[in-house]
Amino acid sequence: MAKVDVKFSPHKAFAKEAHVATKAALSRMVDEASEDVVSFWEGQARELAWFAPWRKPFVWKHPHAQWFVGGTTNASMNCLDRHLGGWRKSKAAIIWEGEPGETRTLTYQQLHAEVCRAANALLKLGVQRGNVVAIYMGMVPEAIVAMLACARIGATHNVVFGGFSSEALKERMNDSNAVALITQDAAWRRGDLVHLKAAADAALKGCKSVQHVIVLQRTSEKTAMKLGRDHWWHEILAGASRTNEPAKLPSEHPLFILYTSGSTGKPKGILHTTGGYLTQVAYSAKLVFDLKEDDVYFCTADIGWITGHSYIVYGPLLNGATIVMYEGAPNWPEPNRFWDIIERHGVTIFYTAPTAIRAFIKWGESWPAKHDLSSLRLLGTVGEPINPEVWMWYHSVIGKQRCPIVDTWWQTETGAIMISPVPGATTTKPGTATKPLPGIAVDVVRKDGTSCDVNEGGLLVVKHPWPSMLRTIYGNDVRYREAYWSEFPKTRKHPGWYFTGDGAKRDKDGYIWIIGRVDDVVNVSGHRLGTAEIESALVSHKLVAEAAVVARPDELKGHALVAFVSLKSSAKGLNTDKLREELRALVAKEIGHFAKPDEVRFAESLPKTRSGKIMRRLLREIVSGFGVTGDVSTLEDMSVLERLHKGDEE
Ligand code: WTA
Repeated sequence: MAKVDVKFSPHKAFAKEAHVATKAALSRMVDEASEDVVSFWEGQARELAWFAPWRKPFVWKHPHAQWFVGGTTNASMNCLDRHLGGWRKSKAAIIWEGEPGETRTLTYQQLHAEVCRAANALLKLGVQRGNVVAIYMGMVPEAIVAMLACARIGATHNVVFGGFSSEALKERMNDSNAVALITQDAAWRRGDLVHLKAAADAALKGCKSVQHVIVLQRTSEKTAMKLGRDHWWHEILAGASRTNEPAKLPSEHPLFILYTSGSTGKPKGILHTTGGYLTQVAYSAKLVFDLKEDDVYFCTADIGWITGHSYIVYGPLLNGATIVMYEGAPNWPEPNRFWDIIERHGVTIFYTAPTAIRAFIKWGESWPAKHDLSSLRLLGTVGEPINPEVWMWYHSVIGKQRCPIVDTWWQTETGAIMISPVPGATTTKPGTATKPLPGIAVDVVRKDGTSCDVNEGGLLVVKHPWPSMLRTIYGNDVRYREAYWSEFPKTRKHPGWYFTGDGAKRDKDGYIWIIGRVDDVVNVSGHRLGTAEIESALVSHKLVAEAAVVARPDELKGHALVAFVSLKSSAKGLNTDKLREELRALVAKEIGHFAKPDEVRFAESLPKTRSGKIMRRLLREIVSGFGVTGDVSTLEDMSVLERLHKGDEE
């Protein structure tokens, strides 16, 4: 695709009203933060409410950070109670729209009452501080209520995306030792019902730790309830009090676990704690989205992903903002649903993913053209690199060349936005997330740790710990050290850096361009997946000998998945079309529909190094159609490569 080489400075009208209004003001913030990063973050932490102040702002024992040690606070109190003192109590916290079309608004006061009732219900069931509660729901206000209720009593929430299968839910509940599960009968998606409770029941068959299940009744579907274990949300909350004292929790109390994909078959339980996480999400939400009292903020992510946690729930609510939450698919009943929502609710800030924008482009400009989008003042994107053409479309067709675009780079592990324009101050260029936010120290380096030259591709690292960083991988600190701290380890001469897993380069203006993952993590339609997870699902099939999954670029989804599968000899003569569908169904069962390979190619054998490692790089080159260019000297059997190229099937 052609390179779009343009720059956009913030419009005067936007900058005039912005929290950070000039380049100079932003530079001052950056300088202030780099002079004394810990006291910079202390300043941000003071924006929150604390029961007791911290004694030590930052304790670092490589690779473990603690922030605001000795301080006590509560996430739910900060998101809710803090706003009840004045007129904000009657302000809309959540404007919700169900896929079938109904709408509901919860003010801060109403949301507070619901959260207190849910917190009391959890306490009544015996859920205690430090327990893990799994949440497996669709996009309904009660999902937010459930998260904040956990936070209120000091239970650690573990939200599992509603698109995950029962197997995936089971694995996540077992790994986190969840004592309770909050779910719903079914959720609406593209005019259909997703039967979450049925999937949860299947998962619970293999999960001993969960004692209680709370079930929200979203639909009129008949739902089996297990006596003694299952409780209807409306029944258990009915008798619960609307007040509840928030627990006074240490800053480092675990707020949530969120599972994400890594480069092995087992998902990683990313652990985030309270004070540091809240500090940085509140700060970044205000700075990057320039949140103001009268904004109506719409983020299209699902709460099952980190974007939903940090920028649907915690970031906006900490700032007392009004959020729009939408239950269903963007193209239901027609591809104008988001534009219709923006027009009807007067959305001012819209945050979505490149994969969604690519779908909007495919559906055509006539859909947004039907709607008055003049309420919009700021656009955002997250999750994968946005190509300049897609950025330009977003800028002109949705933003009418008026709205700044914030391309925000961050990860489940970072908890909050790390690299992004600050919309009143940063000149943007299509395709780059620009520069790190004040307080964040990132660099693009070579494998030997030296900084890359201008436009030289390298590895993206974070050089100083930040407040919302993950604290560990739940139950597996060894893997935490290996996954993030072994590429640039601490030595006598080196402090040790966090490795993001992303490749990047820096241009002459110091802007960072993310090239993509350098490990076996791929992004399919905005969902982060590890190819190893899919491989382990495939090899669980009795006829599969080996499998290697690689990604190829896809115009719509970012990446499409291609699975190379070699079969056992017992599969000889079987119908491969049938087997192909069986394997795709198996992945849907083990992980979820969104993880199904787009293509399954059968191969007699897979290309391997002499030491027996599958050469995924070669497979990637084959599926990308570029031809094999790199070094093949370690390949064990050249004829394998030829056969794969010809697309020979067994
Ligand atoms: C990618 C999502 C380019 C990146 C918040 C990262 C991006 C991974 C961007 C994390 C962006 C996220 N530009 N790439 N603006 N934002 N990524 O954990 O590869 O689902 O490592 O967090 O998404 O994905 P995750």
